[in-house]
Amino acid sequence: MRNLLIAGNWKMNHTAAATETFCRELRARGLEGKRPDILLCPPFTSIGTMVSLLKGSPVHVGGQNLHQQDKGAFTGEISAAMLREAGCSHVLIGHSERRQYFHEDDAGVNAKTRKALENGLTPVICIGETREEREKGVTNAVIKTQLSGALAGFAVGEIRKMLIAYEPVWAIGTGLTATPEQAQEVHRYIRKLLSEIAGAETAQLLRILYGGSAKPDNAAELLSEADIDGLLIGGASLKAEDFFRIIEIADTINK
Ligand code: 13P
Repeated sequence: MRNLLIAGNWKMNHTAAATETFCRELRARGLEGKRPDILLCPPFTSIGTMVSLLKGSPVHVGGQNLHQQDKGAFTGEISAAMLREAGCSHVLIGHSERRQYFHEDDAGVNAKTRKALENGLTPVICIGETREEREKGVTNAVIKTQLSGALAGFAVGEIRKMLIAYEPVWAIGTGLTATPEQAQEVHRYIRKLLSEIAGAETAQLLRILYGGSAKPDNAAELLSEADIDGLLIGGASLKAEDFFRIIEIADTINK
């Protein structure tokens, strides 16, 4: 079955010094033997610190973005090979903040996903509707466009290496969590789309994470839903205590 994945997206938070404090505290709490897979995506400048301080622990480290070219005159960007060399195993692609503030589109998400896979990074493809889109009743149409755009042209074997994160934009950083039922409904739809794109067997294997104001208080009910296979946590991943608490909660979920 699909093992739960607890992932943190730190966004533009924590210096390397703050990262060091976090990592020491997280390790001290005792991660060994916890059942969920664990991933943290710090800012680029903290990757080295995190990789060295969490070495030998079960925590995977990921980037928050990458560029679709291998190298060149792209000031301010970072390549897949650079992330790999720094010790990353995963990379977030197409986060709604990248789409909103940096004009990323589905074609770019597709190209970045290809580059991640070519370099052995697991892409975490982020999709989700805005509040206006939900109110207009076009959530499924938006999800379908984003997912099919991201996955266009990939072989089933490649799709199996991906992770999908459903993050309703209206729930990100707002304290407004999707209810477990609302999230489950979209997750079920995403799995149906995956089944149409890549076949039922692949759809059953792929993990779909939920993101948007996930925290210790709502983690258990979200993770208990049939098609929610983990969480992508922003604000509540910044404190080792909260992040660890969510790992502990995930450890108790049987499904
Ligand atoms: P919050 O958990 O702060 O709402 O952020 C969610 C998110 O965007 C994770 O990628």
